[in-house]
Parts: sequence; structure tokens; C-alpha cells
Amino acid sequence: MQRLRIDLIAAARPNFMKVAPLFHALREQSWCHLRLVHTGQHYDRNMSEAFFSDLKLPAPDLHLGVGSGSHAEQTANVMLAYEGACVADRPDLIVVVGDVNATLACTLVGTKLCIPVAHLEAGLRSRDRRMPEEVNRLVTDAVADILWTPSPDADANLVAEGVPPEKITRVGNIMIDSYELMRERIDASGERSRLGLEKGGYAVVTLHRPSNVDAPGPLNALVSQLTDIAARLPLVFPIHPRTRKNLEAFGLWPKLAEAPDLHVVEPLGYVDFMNLVCGARLTITDSGGVQEETTYLGIPCLTLRTTTERPITLTEGTNRLVTATELVPAIDEIIAGHWPRGRKPQLWDGHTAARVTADIRRRLQIAPLAVNEEAVVSASSSQHVPGNA
Ligand code: UD1
Ligand code: UDP
Repeated sequence: MQRLRIDLIAAARPNFMKVAPLFHALREQSWCHLRLVHTGQHYDRNMSEAFFSDLKLPAPDLHLGVGSGSHAEQTANVMLAYEGACVADRPDLIVVVGDVNATLACTLVGTKLCIPVAHLEAGLRSRDRRMPEEVNRLVTDAVADILWTPSPDADANLVAEGVPPEKITRVGNIMIDSYELMRERIDASGERSRLGLEKGGYAVVTLHRPSNVDAPGPLNALVSQLTDIAARLPLVFPIHPRTRKNLEAFGLWPKLAEAPDLHVVEPLGYVDFMNLVCGARLTITDSGGVQEETTYLGIPCLTLRTTTERPITLTEGTNRLVTATELVPAIDEIIAGHWPRGRKPQLWDGHTAARVTADIRRRLQIAPLAVNEEAVVSASSSQHVPGNA
């Protein structure tokens, strides 16, 4: 009796909370067998292992150990290692998530080996190809077989690019599944009190986009703004390793770390981080995930970018794109209560993993297990996912 062999690919911090709900949903299914693959792009304990433990993921079945490097090095090294793994032990379906280098690399490997690839969080577009993630998104969606989207704008982007509609299923936002799965532990985390912060009396800051942190000019401008803002509203800033490295290299670290009421902390695990976000008056960020989490939670979000691939957080949520100099007036508006409350986008409801599971079964034309378990099991092993030539 053979089961459908599914590889779930994770590489970097934002992948873990996208893979975890799907892992937990699929693990319950008797018709599939999972292989959890970690490419090793993020490797510090608080960028990787902490998320496995917070999100109750087991150790990866396969660790490719790729680590840091240039885009070409990372992409090529993942391709080499993952191709070997697929040849040695071929999956029936590869699931990639998000928009990191491994998303692209594993999609290319799967497609060239004629293994069906499904992309979770497909169709998002910033239309800024200077963002490495935009290139990853475009290439992945051009060749993947199944495109699971979070919002109507993503469907429209794919259709406009000529993707056949039958490849697309709107499943909602998988990040929200992780939040809902962990909600009780997030509420009980105590991180806010450990840092001595009052609910609603501080802001959370995250920054790691190359456009903000890789050159001294923009990073210095942001540090100046943040030190000024902290004098009015305490800030807590879990520092991404890329940002820390650059702050140190540009001699900006003391200015940030010694500013009063600016709590510079190590990157936090998911549960502690979300505990801080849930109690924040607002967030200042360039993260993709934080734009979505704050929209779901109804917390004002100031995004230090000129574009977003998540426009629904602007049209329906609490997000606004700002420059460094627009931060202070925007914070004034928030504190004065002049900020949209937003609403939760459709299908951002904690049930995305269940919809993905149902979609895999539909595409495999698997009868409900309760009705005909034997037929399911015998059919699943040899079938190709429709949509893959
Ligand atoms: C990557 C993703 C980005 C995502 C971000 C989430 C790509 C192209 N970029 O960017 O889309 O938003 O993760 O956090 O895939 N480093 C450490 N320890 C680690 C990991 C990284 O010290 O565990 C340092 C290294 O110096 C490394 C640098 O951070 O060179 C950047 O890491 P990298 O994974 O290349 O890119 P991110 O900026 O993390
Ligand atoms: N996050 C976390 N600890 C931190 C910073 C972020 O747990 O110190 C979580 C948070 O849920 C966020 C997610 O990691 O949505 C994605 O992080 P990141 O900003 O690194 O990636 P992006 O979404 O920009 O690709």
C-alpha cells in the first residue's frame, strides 16, 4: 500500500509558519507521506530551531545545510542538493511556500524532474523586480503546477500573466493558521511583561529588506527616526542578523542600542514575537508577514517600502506604505485615533491548511477516505497531479 509522497520545503524564518499548519493538517491524512525538507538558509537557533519548537514541528527529515551566500550560491546550492535528494528518493508532489531563494530553487528542480510542484502563497506581486523575492515569485508561478493563492489580487495577477485558471485555487492566508493554532500560547507567553511593556504603550519594529538596511544612508536615516520616535513611544526592535551585521559595519550600532526606551533585542521565536505584536499600539516594519498579521489583528502597520506585494493589507487592512520621514506624522495620526480599523480579508480564517488538503485530494480525484479508503490508497501512488504534463 503506497501513499502519496509529499515534500514540504522550508528554508528561512517566514517559511516555518507557512509550512507548520500544512504539516499538521497533512500528517493526519492516511493517504500521504510527508518529508519535511529544510534547506538551511536560516540556521541561527533563533532564526530556525526556535520556530520548529514553537510550531511543534519535528526535526526535518532532510537538512540540506546550504547556509548563507550570494543569491546565485544559495539558489545553485539548494538546486544541487535537492536534485540529489529527489533522484535518491523521488517525491510525488513538492510543496514550496513564500518567495525565498529555496522556493525558486526547489520549483526548478521539481519541474525539470517532471515532479508536480505546488506553490503556497502564489500570485503576490510587488511589481518591483529589484526585490529578489519578486523574481522568485514570478519564476516559481510561471512553472509550478498548482498555485494556491491568499487573495483575489493574487488570482488576478496570475490570470493576467496567462496562467490557466484551473491551476489556481484560492485557499486564503496560511500565516493566519499558525496564529490561530498558537493563539493561546501567544497570549500566555509573558514576553511583553518580561520587557516591562504596557499593552498598547509601545511599538514593534522589524527591518531586514536590503533596500532599507544594506546601505549606510537609508539605514542611518531610519536609526535617526527610530531614536526620535522612542522618546515618545517606547520601541522594541528584534534585530534580524542581516540588519545587525550592517548596523555594526556602518558604526550605527551604539546609536541604536544606547537610545533610551528603544529595546534592541535578539530575533524572537514566533510565540514571543506575536505576543509583542498583539499588545502593540502599532508596528513599523518592512516584513511581508508582519503586514498580514497586523491586518488580521487590526493593529496599525507602517511599512517602510515603496511597494507591497500584499495590497489587500492596504485596501482592506491597517497597513500604509511610508518613507522614513513620514513615520512621525503617521504615528501622530495613529495616536490621535485617525487610522482605519480595517477588516479581516476573506479566507484569512485559520482554515487555509484544510483547504489546501482538500484541494490536493480534489486534484487527485481522491474519494473521501471515510467512503472508500482502499480506493484512495491504491489510486494515490501512481497518479499524477492534474495540471502537470
Ligand atoms: C531572507 C529572504 C527574504 C526573507 C527573509 C526573512 C531570500 C532572497 N531572502 O532574507 O525574502 O524576507 O529571509 O527573514 O531568500 N544570517 C545569519 N544567521 C542566519 C541567517 C542569516 O547570521 O541564521 C545573516 C548572514 O550574514 C546572511 C544574512 O543574514 O548573509 C542574510 O541572510 P539571507 O538568508 O541571505 O537573507 P535574508 O535577509 O535573511
Ligand atoms: N517573526 C518572529 N520573530 C521575529 C521577527 C519576525 O517570529 O523576531 C515572525 C513574524 O511572524 C513574521 C515572520 O516571522 O511575520 C516573517 O518574518 P520576516 O519578516 O523575517 O520575513 P518576511 O515575511 O518579510 O519574508
